[in-house]
Amino acid sequence: MKIAVAGTGYVGLVAGVCFAEVGHDVTCVDVDEKKVEIMRQGISPIYEEGLEELMQKNNAKGTLHFTTDYREAYRDADAIFIGVGTPEMPDGSANLSYIATVSRQIAETVEKDCLVVVKSTVPVGTNDKVEQFIKDFLVHDVKVEVASNPEFLAQGTAVYDTLHAARIIIGTESSEAEDLLKKIYEPFGLPIVSVKRRSAEMIKYACNDFLALKISYMNDIANLCELVGADITDVAKGMSYDERIGARFLNAGIGFGGSCFPKDTKALKFLAREHGYQLRTVEACVEVNSSQKVRLFEKAKDRMISFAGLKVAVLGLTFKAGTDDLREAPSIDNLKLLLAAGADVYAYDPKGADRAKQLFPEGKLEQGTMHYVSGVDEALEGANICFVFTEWGEIRAILPEQFKSKMHTPLVYDGRNLYDPKQMKDAGVEYYSIGR
Ligand code: UDX
Repeated sequence: MKIAVAGTGYVGLVAGVCFAEVGHDVTCVDVDEKKVEIMRQGISPIYEEGLEELMQKNNAKGTLHFTTDYREAYRDADAIFIGVGTPEMPDGSANLSYIATVSRQIAETVEKDCLVVVKSTVPVGTNDKVEQFIKDFLVHDVKVEVASNPEFLAQGTAVYDTLHAARIIIGTESSEAEDLLKKIYEPFGLPIVSVKRRSAEMIKYACNDFLALKISYMNDIANLCELVGADITDVAKGMSYDERIGARFLNAGIGFGGSCFPKDTKALKFLAREHGYQLRTVEACVEVNSSQKVRLFEKAKDRMISFAGLKVAVLGLTFKAGTDDLREAPSIDNLKLLLAAGADVYAYDPKGADRAKQLFPEGKLEQGTMHYVSGVDEALEGANICFVFTEWGEIRAILPEQFKSKMHTPLVYDGRNLYDPKQMKDAGVEYYSIGR
């Protein structure tokens, strides 16, 4: 099958590479000439486990191509997958301008019947509009249908998640579109759930927002645990045995970040409001998350007279481990507060420092200063206070004695519950975590 993929971010690139891996002939399109050039050499512009290997393998096989020439890619494709971004607008709604641009390009270039498949997360009803938009601008006398095929991959495990997805959701309005999508996904050997287009669009939001709710719920319970003397880790363990609840996404912490949960909760809240409905559960989830992100900073603020001139070790910057992505990372909110309070920040992240430097350049910043160091020990050396924001393995592996011996004052605020409170106490570390 000849497939074109528009957009080479986490969604588009991973989808394209995996389609090539299962035997399709794939062309990935991106507007960025430099990015396309490096992808042609088998170099991934994003850090994702296993992605480069598959890029190189399929580049060499000649079934994976990269281009800026969308005309060439779309002209005679059997299916065109749209995987461009739908970033959040200031009011929380989704920005559909990239989808519109690609739709127009498709309309103006396709020369044979084809299926356009929207993989990007879009508000319910967008696929109808995309189909109409393409029909309005079609140049050649061809039949174009639009299908919804939401993506459920998590960053860091994107390739694995795509090749071993729990299910493939396809939303179509005709049996032809349904059959074609089933044929494309057949080689994956995964369960396929076939529904109408609007339901498919809603499934994506319903899943992401449910998981986000689960996290905010655990964070809310964790905060209460602190007040009543319970331990959220034990509480989560006890909950996890109930199969109706499940064992995953029960980790309380510094709040969720990333490119999906923050955006998708706000987008669904916005969509509901647009339809005159208040989605109270999701609104509460958003609210809990925004205060959770700065909860440790607030706690530390209560303990200190001032942060001015203090050496603050920051361990972990990315929104979770296994990715170099900083979008909506809780570290960002905290760094802003720490720097505004005059802190001398020494940050370490094994993958996220380069991206962080674009947001927080090294040197004097606000009232404080920003430094990036190349290891955990360097960050801790002589520090007055330490914040843990990401659960990287090497940060998890720090021993209580290390905090004690390296830091000037062994005072640790852990947003990921990585260490044992008793061991920390025994080692002489003053330790604060979430919900215990
Ligand atoms: C998520 C969904 O998992 C994925 O299915 C969807 O397609 C895109 O959004 P991702 O954003 O890559 O994927 O990361 P995920 O692992 O789900 O974590 C999201 C955020 O929640 C992170 O900030 C993470 O640290 C946080 N989280 C996750 C918790 O705070 N507690 C948990 O128990 C799980």
